Amino acid sequence: MSEYLRQTNRKNMAKEIFDKVEAIIVEIQAAQPEGAEAIEQFRIKYLGTKNIIKPLMGEIRNIPNEQKKEFGQLINKAKEVAEEKFAALQAVSVAEAAQSDANSIDLTAPGEPLALGARHPVSIMMNRIIEIFTRIGFTIAEEREIEADWYNFTAMNTPEDHPARDMQDTFYMRGIENMLLRTHTSSVQARVMTTQKPPIRIIAPGRVYRNETISSRSHCQFHQVEGLYVDEKVSFADMKQTLLYFAKEMYGPQTEIRLRPSYFPFTEPSAEMDVYWGLKDETDYRITKGTGWLEILGCGMVDPAVLENCGINSKKYTGFAFGMGIERQAMLKYRISDIRYLFENDVRLMKQFGRAF
Ligand code: PHE
Repeated sequence: MSEYLRQTNRKNMAKEIFDKVEAIIVEIQAAQPEGAEAIEQFRIKYLGTKNIIKPLMGEIRNIPNEQKKEFGQLINKAKEVAEEKFAALQAVSVAEAAQSDANSIDLTAPGEPLALGARHPVSIMMNRIIEIFTRIGFTIAEEREIEADWYNFTAMNTPEDHPARDMQDTFYMRGIENMLLRTHTSSVQARVMTTQKPPIRIIAPGRVYRNETISSRSHCQFHQVEGLYVDEKVSFADMKQTLLYFAKEMYGPQTEIRLRPSYFPFTEPSAEMDVYWGLKDETDYRITKGTGWLEILGCGMVDPAVLENCGINSKKYTGFAFGMGIERQAMLKYRISDIRYLFENDVRLMKQFGRAF
């Protein structure tokens, strides 16, 4: 083969190899891989350990000497183009990922409303009453709702033939002798006095049951808070001051009270306490039956017979007790016209007391 032919051959061969590299460069520049997977394939193809540029580097031995430098530069250019393209692709893909994250959480959108529960008006009243009395040293006593006749009636000086024991007023447990649903929280007085020694100073919140016809004003179940204070030299004046303090805390500092003589089997003397409500408009007339006064609770000095029934020396100790209904106070405070609403748990009603705690 003549020198000329050999050289021409080599030049042709060299041109072919040059062309191949050029084609790869064009290919790299034109590539548009989309998504992380495609970009990785791009990297493996042009920059990986078995990339397609590498084998072309070996072809340098078939390149005429005077072109070797040029060829080396072309190979380097191909590598650079691949690296730059890859860096650009990565930058775009990171930006896109950030963008799609931002899209999935729209920070300007209004938040999901939190479903806040609402306290039941009876609970609100109960908690306020408990708070007022615990502040002046009363502790909470909670007891059973299914009670023995003795604690509910006998210990509380309620004679066998008392109308309160009538089958119509009391829910007796069928088939269980002398057991009933407590008709008042006064049963807790007996529970506490038979197990604790004076000084005793408790309040007893809880549910009570009476076999009454259900109407807008009365229900077969309702809530009471009982109070009991037994110590040496506890007087009627102590009771009056305690209840006045309660009334002012509950209904405002201007509140006036009055005590009317009354009767309960377990207290002597007994009284009912009214709070002055006012007599300005028609509603005041209706609620107070035209007197301006509202009956809030029953109270009195613990009957010595009750103390003795419970094993407390009535010569040494005296005490006062009171019991108040919660529903009535809640109805007054929130102007609820029918007691039955308080037991239906209709969220439309309950929601109205929403943040009231
Ligand atoms: N137990 C009475 C009632 O249910 C209230 C009361 C309690 C009265 C304590 C006096 C003393 O009506």
